[in-house]
Amino acid sequence: MGFHRIAAASEIPSQGGLKVRLGRDEIAIFRDGGEYRAINDLCPHRGAPLSEGFLEQGRVFCPWHCFDFSLCTGESSIAPHLRVATYVVEVRDNQIYLDYPDELVCDNSAEEAIDEL
Ligand code: FES
Repeated sequence: MGFHRIAAASEIPSQGGLKVRLGRDEIAIFRDGGEYRAINDLCPHRGAPLSEGFLEQGRVFCPWHCFDFSLCTGESSIAPHLRVATYVVEVRDNQIYLDYPDELVCDNSAEEAIDEL
């Protein structure tokens, strides 16, 4: 695992999410109050882009069928058998870094890997 820069904090909309690709995953980044959160963008129900969902009280609601997912745990209160992956986020110098397996990052040329924050 290592921290990889994925976006500038200023790129994250105040309402809604930003989709980025890292390794083989598409990741949705949200601003939740003063915190930044990252989850896998693929809804585990039928594959909608969660970055296009809407936020309410620390949860994102899927744009297709409105199942909710916690930005902290990935759990859904509407469909408890579903969970989306969450990622550890760090913010340094107004840049957002994500803890993500180094071996899954195919192209390191466009990003900076940080072993220790
Ligand atoms: S595709 Fe997300 S709730 Fe159905």
